[in-house]
Amino acid sequence: MTKELKNKLNDLDKDYSAKIQSCVDLTALQDLQVSALGRKGELTELLKSLKDLSLEEKKILGPLSNDLKNKLNTAFENKRSELEAAQINAELAKTDIDLTLPAYTFDKGRRHPLAIAQKRMTDILAKLGFVWAQGPLIEDEEHNFDALNIPKNHPARDVQDTFFIKNTFKDCFVLRTHTSGVQVRTMKKQKPPIRIMAPGRVFRKDAIDATHSPVFNQIEGLYIDKNISLADLKKDLTVFMQGLFGKNAQVRFRPSFFPFTEPSVEVDVKCVFCEGKDPACSVCKGTGWKEMLGAGIVHPNVLKNCGIDPEVYSGYAFGMGVERLAMFSLNIKDIRAFYENDMRILEQF
Ligand code: DAH
Repeated sequence: MTKELKNKLNDLDKDYSAKIQSCVDLTALQDLQVSALGRKGELTELLKSLKDLSLEEKKILGPLSNDLKNKLNTAFENKRSELEAAQINAELAKTDIDLTLPAYTFDKGRRHPLAIAQKRMTDILAKLGFVWAQGPLIEDEEHNFDALNIPKNHPARDVQDTFFIKNTFKDCFVLRTHTSGVQVRTMKKQKPPIRIMAPGRVFRKDAIDATHSPVFNQIEGLYIDKNISLADLKKDLTVFMQGLFGKNAQVRFRPSFFPFTEPSVEVDVKCVFCEGKDPACSVCKGTGWKEMLGAGIVHPNVLKNCGIDPEVYSGYAFGMGVERLAMFSLNIKDIRAFYENDMRILEQF
């Protein structure tokens, strides 16, 4: 029995190896494969019959038949690749397509450097728990100024600094001069705890130069809860800056003034280009530090204006210029590079 089957295996091996070798087209090869290894193929049938053998016989014939099955499968695959390649070459020989010609290239779209920078900032803030909030670009004086404790005679309200829009129904509208109005809108409609970030465009009557533009972008942050202090502000903004500029980034807080925060701070980052070591550094002008944003503890008047009890709640707020941070982190010297759509510049990011 064993001998007989061994001979059968040998015959199948010789027979199919020769047939595969001499096969010249893909359909014939497919038929051949079915007749050997298909559901009712010769080798398949033989493999099925092994189950009736004794254990001893199985031990010998099992591996032998499996080896043959693998051998034939490989032979079929190799022949198939060979025939397919021959077919493609025959097709190509009939045409004059030059496959060595470089292919056409297509310009791929990419994010604008400002969008890249803004996304990096909002991604870090999102990890710190800040959720996205929005407000209108055309604001009323109440949200842009009054509720933020910015008095009528404050210079920010000067027509020299702000785009006012006359409106017959209400006193006056302005193209928002900062994103801080979103704080007011959020606090008026939401109970603490509040933790929002508000990215968006702002407008000021600034002449265009290397660092000014009448339209630019800010990101506002606001965190209101019980017992929020300057310590929380320092910790969160330090983590934010380290997320943006690397874990060794150094952050400095200086006293400052904003009508809507008390106390107020200005936040600087150690120059990432000269690390404070180059008195001639063109980025930090040799000061070693770069001013990044304004922040502070939300003024009790602002909380009151928005219907939040300053005796129970406190919070911090901050506002930063996306362009300013992007220019610093990407080492772009002129803000106009963001708006002029010069592909040679934009393509670098
Ligand atoms: N609104 C300020 C500006 O446009 C930036 C700012 C400073 C926002 C301090 C804040 C803050 O929320 O607390 O210059």
